[in-house]
Amino acid sequence: MNKAKIKQAQNNIRNLHVFLRTEIKKKWNRVLPFNEEIADRWEKAKYLKFGRGASIYDNSLVFGDVKVGKNTWIGPFTILDGTGGLTIGSYCSISTGVQIYTHDSVKWALSAGKAKYEHSSVSIGDSCYIGPNAVIAKGVSIGKRCVIGANSLVNKHLPSHSIAFGIPAKIVGKVSVEGKKIKLEYFSSKSHK
Ligand SMILES: CC(C)(COP(=O)(O)OP(=O)(O)OC[C@H]1O[C@@H](n2cnc3c(N)ncnc32)[C@H](O)[C@@H]1OP(=O)(O)O)[C@@H](O)C(=O)NCCC(=O)NCCS
Repeated sequence: MNKAKIKQAQNNIRNLHVFLRTEIKKKWNRVLPFNEEIADRWEKAKYLKFGRGASIYDNSLVFGDVKVGKNTWIGPFTILDGTGGLTIGSYCSISTGVQIYTHDSVKWALSAGKAKYEHSSVSIGDSCYIGPNAVIAKGVSIGKRCVIGANSLVNKHLPSHSIAFGIPAKIVGKVSVEGKKIKLEYFSSKSHK
């Protein structure tokens, strides 16, 4: 391709971006990067064989074997590492920046490549809320209807209905659900300090 053709192609893409940006701002009052303007979050979820109604941002990285249930929302800048097996239930909200790992390279690095990467599966039950930038380490299972606070490091199993946060995440309360009524009850307002 010659220089003039490259310039023309760049201009066409830029014009498309400006057009889509205006349309999306008008319709949804959002301003997104170009790749999100052209990507379809539901199509990507379908391609990955996630459950019906699930969606996943184009900016999300997906590795290995990842199973996701129905209507789960997976936000931007997330990492879903299924190299050791990852299952996420239905109606989960996986917030922006969440990183879920099923491998680590700790021993590989320390042994200058002599030891292998370690893998262990992660499962997250239905109806969980995982707050922004939480990191979930390999080998952890999280039950149903759990709340994980923003910026937490989850490195231990959490039973269903747990509220947990912190580094490392500790269980600080319990979720109760009766129909549409949801209560987040804390064991003690200072228990996590
Ligand atoms: C975990 C969470 C959902 C709990 O919400 P909540 O029940 O309304 O809790 P509160 O904000 O009343 O906090 C209860 C206590 O926990 C503390 N706390 C809450 N979230 C925390 C977190 N992620 N890390 C550490 N402490 C936290 C609060 O400071 C408060 O402490 P206090 O009792 O000593 O004052 C919420 O704090 C959280 O992390 N939300 C993220 C929301 C968000 O970013 N949304 C945008 C994307 S969807």
